Amino acid sequence: MFKDYFQFAHPTRVVAGREMIGALGFEFAKEGAKRPLIVTDEVIRGTGLIEKVEAGLRDGGLEPAGIFDDVPQDSGTGVVEACAQAAREAECDSIVAVGGGSVMDTAKVANALYVHGRTVLDYEGIYQLPRADGYEGAPLPLKPLACVPTTCGTGSEVSFGAVILDSEQHVKLTLGDFPLFPSLAILDPESTRTLPPQIAAATGMDAMTHAIEGYTSTEWSPHGQAFAAGALGLMRENLPRAVQTPTDEEARGNMLVAACMAIVPGAAASVALGAVHSMSHSAGAHHRVPHGVANSIHLPHVIRFNAGDDDTAERYRDVAEILGAESAGSGEEVGEALAAWVTELTVSLELPQRLSEVGVPEAGIPELVDGAMGDGCTLTNPREIADEDYSRLYAAAL
Ligand SMILES: [Fe+2]
Repeated sequence: MFKDYFQFAHPTRVVAGREMIGALGFEFAKEGAKRPLIVTDEVIRGTGLIEKVEAGLRDGGLEPAGIFDDVPQDSGTGVVEACAQAAREAECDSIVAVGGGSVMDTAKVANALYVHGRTVLDYEGIYQLPRADGYEGAPLPLKPLACVPTTCGTGSEVSFGAVILDSEQHVKLTLGDFPLFPSLAILDPESTRTLPPQIAAATGMDAMTHAIEGYTSTEWSPHGQAFAAGALGLMRENLPRAVQTPTDEEARGNMLVAACMAIVPGAAASVALGAVHSMSHSAGAHHRVPHGVANSIHLPHVIRFNAGDDDTAERYRDVAEILGAESAGSGEEVGEALAAWVTELTVSLELPQRLSEVGVPEAGIPELVDGAMGDGCTLTNPREIADEDYSRLYAAAL
C-alpha cells in the first residue's frame, strides 16, 4: 500500500563511540556553542560524570557557564521555570543536558522559556512554539542543545517531543515542535557506566515500547519502521546483556544506539505512540509509577487488545519475527505469543509485573482511565480504544 500521509524528520546529529564525551566541546562548537549551561540531576552529578563533561567541553575551547542540577525524576513545570531562570542568570548561549528523559526534557523546554519567555503551558501541544509569521511561518530557533543520555530508554536526545508533569492538574503535558530537536546527541557507553540494573531494565523496556508502538501506530511510516526494526534487532540481544552484566560496555553502547533509534518513528515530527504510553502517562501523573516500569506492565495487555485488529496483528507478526517470538498462526495467536514473549522478558529482567505492586489501588482506576483517554497517544493507537477498554486493560494489569 502507499500511505495517504506521513511526515518524517530526523535532524539531530548523532555522534556515537567510546570516549566521545571527551570530544563533546569539539563537536558542540560545530553547532555554534561557546558558553553552555549544563543541566543534570544530583545523582548523576554524584557519579563524577559532570567533571568529564566539563573537561570535554573545555578541551574543545568551550567555557561552561554554570550547572543546574535540580531536576527530579519526573520534572515539573516549576523545575523547567527554575532551569530557564538559571540560563538567564548564567547568560549561556547554549545548553548541554546530561541525564535521562526528565533532564533532557527539562532542558528542551527551559530552552524555549529562556529564548521566548512565557510559561510551559503556553507551549503545550504540537507546533505551539513561536513562529516568524504567526502559526504558518518557520519556527523561531532556540539555543543549540547537546544531549548526553545516561539511560538507554527515552530517546529524547533525538526527538522533537518533551513530557513535563503539571503537578497541580496531575497530567503529563506533551510538547512537540521542530526547534525542540536537539542539535547534537553524544552516545558514549561511559555515560551509562553507573546505571543501576533495575533502571537499565525499566528504561530499556521504555525503548522497546517506543519501537513496538512506533512500528504499529496510525502514524507509522516506512522510514519509521526501518528505524524501529533496527532498534528491536539490537535490543533482542543487548537489553538482557546490558541489564544482567552492567560491565558489558558493548551491550551498553548498543542499547544507547537502540534507544536512540527506537524513538524515531514515534517522535519524528509527530508524537505518535499508542495506548501503552497513554496508560503509562496517566499512571505516572497520578501515582508516580516510573515511566519504563509502567510501560513494561502495560505493554503485553495492549498488544493482546490491539491484535484484535487484523492490520495491527500483521505488524505484530513482523515485530515477533525480529524479536524471535513465535510469529505463525492467526492474528490473535501472534498477539498472544508476542505478549507472552514480552512478559517472559520482563520477568527475566526482574521488573514488577502488576500495577498493585507499584502503588496503584483498584479505586484509582476511573481517574487513570480519564487520564489515558485525554492523552494524545490515544489518538494514534492503531485500534480505536474507549473508556471501557481502558478500564478492562487497567484491571487486567492491576
Ligand atoms: Fe516512553
